[in-house]
Amino acid sequence: MRRTTNLASLAGLTVAILFLAACGGDSATTAGGDGGGEASGGKAMRLALNQTEAHPSYISLDNWGTSLDEVTEGRWSIDVFPNETLGAQAEALQLVGDGSVDMAVVSSAQLENLNADFKAFEMPGVFDDVDEQLRILNDPEISGGLFTSLEGQNITVLGVMTEGARSVYTSFGPVETPADLADKKIRVQKTDKWIAIAEALGGVATPMALSELYPGLQAGVVDAAENNEVSYWTQKHYEVAPDWSYTNHMIGADYVIINTQTLNSMSEEVRAAFLEGFTAAYTEHAELWGQATQDAIDNATAGGATFHEIDSTPFKEALAAVVPDLLDGDTQQALYDAVVEAAS
Ligand code: GCU
Repeated sequence: MRRTTNLASLAGLTVAILFLAACGGDSATTAGGDGGGEASGGKAMRLALNQTEAHPSYISLDNWGTSLDEVTEGRWSIDVFPNETLGAQAEALQLVGDGSVDMAVVSSAQLENLNADFKAFEMPGVFDDVDEQLRILNDPEISGGLFTSLEGQNITVLGVMTEGARSVYTSFGPVETPADLADKKIRVQKTDKWIAIAEALGGVATPMALSELYPGLQAGVVDAAENNEVSYWTQKHYEVAPDWSYTNHMIGADYVIINTQTLNSMSEEVRAAFLEGFTAAYTEHAELWGQATQDAIDNATAGGATFHEIDSTPFKEALAAVVPDLLDGDTQQALYDAVVEAAS
């Protein structure tokens, strides 16, 4: 449900959540019924997002919340809190685990830090396009037990939304080969995999949260970053790193997660409607993605950015060379092989 929320009330809510969590209290807001029973219970679930309200993730998740609210006659709903107002992804992951926030969107990097097998689902050079990625990564035959592997920590993975194709952008001019990033600090997400990817792209890896990146680029703490066009525009990074070079090095994966107890407290009917809503949400998200990408390019260009079409082969070759080292053990290898086989 779309709500008008001001910063003061959000700050107050964050404090209330932390207070309830500290007291070990139930932060659930019952939305009718008895709040705990299978058939009559309900909850206004809070979902933590690090993107803005203009991002397709916000729009499609918000629509999911609205349809859940309608189908359960107001008993269950999803309130999407954008802009990291419930915390950056690393904190959001913890808050979902302890139940003080019900749901979140986190990138693969966050889950890899809890179970490194998630790495196998987000590797460079695997998918040709977003439809192929979603078909494969949301196929239970392929994910097997991966999405339930964190339930000991009270986190269930519902599935994947796309991050689209990621490319490099810079504050110092375009890049054409990894050598152009030599000695340049490139922001990446905080995992060993992303550090290795930054190095293969030619730069010096500098891990930081997404919200730290704009000031980081502005102050020259980092010289480069990599992401999709939509985040480049919505996070306004084009203002401080105006050259985008199409390295297209990875179609990235975002995961929608839920507190396992919250999921298990749904009746069978509610759970079915909820999961159907998730499929509709990631499908709508993918449908919005193409237009959002074009709008991002147009808007960033009008704001002074330049998008450079380059031959991405040198970057792709450098990344392909590190993939075998990034996969640890038989489980990761088997998952990666299943994904690659399904994609070929
Ligand atoms: C994308 C992705 C986010 C992620 C971000 C990042 O925008 O959708 O989930 O946090 O990249 O690079 O941190």
